[in-house]
Amino acid sequence: MNEELREVAVAVALAAGELVSAGRPDRVEVASTKSSPTDVVTAMDTASEQLLRTELARVRPEDGFLGEEGGHRPGRSGLTWVVDPIDGTVNYLYGLRAYAVSVAVVRAADPAARPDPATWTVLAGAVVDPSQGETWSAALGGGARLTDARGTRALTAPTGPELGQALVATGFGYDARRRAEQAAVVARLLPGVRDLRRVGAASLDLCSVAAGRVDAYYERGLKPWDLAAGALVAAEAGAVVTDFAGAAAGGHGLVAAARDLHPHLLRALADAGAGDPGVDDTGTDDGA
Ligand code: IPD
Repeated sequence: MNEELREVAVAVALAAGELVSAGRPDRVEVASTKSSPTDVVTAMDTASEQLLRTELARVRPEDGFLGEEGGHRPGRSGLTWVVDPIDGTVNYLYGLRAYAVSVAVVRAADPAARPDPATWTVLAGAVVDPSQGETWSAALGGGARLTDARGTRALTAPTGPELGQALVATGFGYDARRRAEQAAVVARLLPGVRDLRRVGAASLDLCSVAAGRVDAYYERGLKPWDLAAGALVAAEAGAVVTDFAGAAAGGHGLVAAARDLHPHLLRALADAGAGDPGVDDTGTDDGA
C-alpha cells in the first residue's frame, strides 16, 4: 500500500512541479503575505495547491488534505495528504532555482484533528525539484529513491563525518524574534563545523541529507508541510531524524543527520542553545 501511495505522491507532485516551473513569469509578484511581511504567497503557490487538492480529491477521495495555503480538510480514511505547493517560495519569487513541490501522506494519531508531526506516521512522500529535474520519493519501509535524467536509484545516506568536518544546512523562520534566536545558535555552532548552508527550501535540505550532499540539516519552527515528505526521504535513506531532544521531529525542532554524526550534532546544538525555550513554536504562520 505504501508503494501505491508513493506513486500517487510522485504523480501529483510532478504535475504541480510542471505547473510551477513552466508557468513561472519573468517577474513573480507577491499576491499576499502571512505571518510577517517577508512570509509571502505568490499566485503560483495558490494555483499549485489547487491542482494538488483537486487531483488528490479525484484519485483519493476518502483522504484528508492539509496544505500550506488552504488549511486542513479532514477525510474519512484516516490518511491525510500534507502538501507544500512551493517550498522555497522566496527563492521562487527571486528566480533562484532551489524550490520544490512537497507531497506526503500521513496517518495521524487523531484522524479528526489537524495532523501533528510529533505523533503522525508518514507513509509515503515525494519532493519534486523542477529546476534540477529531480524527483525524490520514499515509502515507509520501502526505501528512498532519486529519479533524474540518468534513471532511478535507491538512496543510502553516508554514515557521516566527525562534527568538525560536517557540512550542516539550516533555515530561518519568518518571525523576527525567532530569527534572532536562530542567529545566536548559528554564531555558536559555526566555529565547530566545516561550514553552514542556507538553501531556502526545507524539503530539499532533507533530500540533500538523504543523498549526502550535506551531512546534516536542522531547523526550528518548521511547519508540517515543510518536513513531511523530506523527513521520510532522509529517514528511509538511513539518516536519523529527530527533534533537538532526540524525540519525534516537529515544529519545536528537526535534526536530520548522517547516523554517526547525529548524536554529536545533537550535543553541539544543545550547547548552542538550539532547544532552549524561546519563541512559541505552535504559532500558525500559515493559511490554515
Ligand atoms: C520555508 C523554507 C525555508 C525554511 C522555512 C520554511 P516556504 O518554506 O522551507 O527553507 O527555512 O522555515 O518556512 O515558506 O518556502 O514554503
